[in-house]
Amino acid sequence: MKLEKYYAPEKARLIVEGREYELPILIGEEGEKAIDISKLRSNTGYITLDYGYINTGSCASAITYLDGDRGILNYRGYPIDDLAEKCTFVEVAYLLVHGSLPTVKQLKHFSGLLNKYALIHEDMVHFFDRFPQGSPPMSILSSMVNALSVFYPEMINDPLLQIDMMTARLISKVRTIAAFSYKKAMGHPLVYPRHDYSYCANFLNMMFHTSVAPYEVNPVVVDVLNKLLILHGDHEQNCSTSTVRLVGSAHVNLYASISAGISALWGPLHGGANQAVIEMLERIQHEGGNYRKYIEKAKDPNDPFRLVGFGHRVYKNHDPRSRIIKKACDDVLGALRITDPLLDLAKEIEEVALTDPYFIERRLYPNVDFYSGIIYKAIGIPKDMFTVMFALGRLPGWIAHWKEMWDDANWRIGRPRQIYVGPVTRPFVPMEERGE
Ligand code: CMC
Repeated sequence: MKLEKYYAPEKARLIVEGREYELPILIGEEGEKAIDISKLRSNTGYITLDYGYINTGSCASAITYLDGDRGILNYRGYPIDDLAEKCTFVEVAYLLVHGSLPTVKQLKHFSGLLNKYALIHEDMVHFFDRFPQGSPPMSILSSMVNALSVFYPEMINDPLLQIDMMTARLISKVRTIAAFSYKKAMGHPLVYPRHDYSYCANFLNMMFHTSVAPYEVNPVVVDVLNKLLILHGDHEQNCSTSTVRLVGSAHVNLYASISAGISALWGPLHGGANQAVIEMLERIQHEGGNYRKYIEKAKDPNDPFRLVGFGHRVYKNHDPRSRIIKKACDDVLGALRITDPLLDLAKEIEEVALTDPYFIERRLYPNVDFYSGIIYKAIGIPKDMFTVMFALGRLPGWIAHWKEMWDDANWRIGRPRQIYVGPVTRPFVPMEERGE
């Protein structure tokens, strides 16, 4: 990635121990500003300290732009509202990985690859039998995706030559793995992918078809699933994507890098929040619907409880995805004629929190996970699969970042520094002198 044109004529000035240093400034395409500190340590002997990387840019990227203050999210320059409204997930996956929306011919080719690679090796199917009953599907998914690297080792030599095949393999097989893990958990026979179904319809059929009750594809459900996967498609350098990049920076293969990303996504502060939101709403409902108690708990500095589905590291105004999801939630529950008291509860909590000074001052708004679980529940996805659905959606984003990193001339293995605060060098103490 060539960055010359982004360097501004002016420089930042840093004064350390009375000496002044000039640091280059970069201005991105949408006006975001950065100070290039890549020579800081070699020139000054200093490093920066930035817990949680709140101020740290780890790369330049052309995939996703988001502006947390203005609530903007674009993939490859296209606003998320347009993509969620007008595209299928497969089109958006192509866009994220390849950089442009597919033509009819390109989409046909890509869809053909997704069909071609939809099966997983039958030996992998036996793996499912060896996980203990009740294993979290995210753990199964991460293990299975890692195992793909030994079943499909083609990328070991020149990954970028094989990227189309690997992309299609992953996007198609992760869907199959996700649905198989559900069927295994249910103790039902597996339903294999079909070439005559679209990506989302295929997934729903693999999940819900049984020999006693054939699954009828419902366009409303297919549509909302496309939307949810698109909204999760990418989110620049979040925890799981940074994990994929960091692991991939050691030149480990794509499957192993994505497997690490899946593990990062599992956390309740990240993708695991969609499951945690429903569990929180169910708990509140179970206790008689007294949500105000939970809002007070969330505000109490001595209570570790947080209102799950609220707040975001980057969005400090509103999360544009949550607005689309909230509307989709109303639409789909209406179309399916489902009334879910959890939706009413969620709306009441949102209303109260948005007028509460604690949430206003800290700029805490509903995030992408606040309403998504209610939709998943309505379309029959079990709670412990919610984060798997997030992973399915995030997959093209992870692949796009891994590919971009691999192709970037500025690539270096990821290796942060630290400030050491342990004991200073001290003499070794032999065992007989260490006391009791
Ligand atoms: N409920 C109550 N207080 C909160 C919440 C919350 N959900 N989120 C943040 N705060 C408070 C926090 O206690 C802190 O207060 P104070 O300044 O008094 O110490 C202040 O707001 C700033 O919070 P922070 O922890 O410094 O913010 P962060 O940017 O490090 O964390 C977050 C972002 C998403 C981890 C956090 O908001 C959170 O834990 N939210 C709940 C979990 C959640 O919904 N996660 C899904 C995120 S969206 C999906 C994704 O991208 O993965």
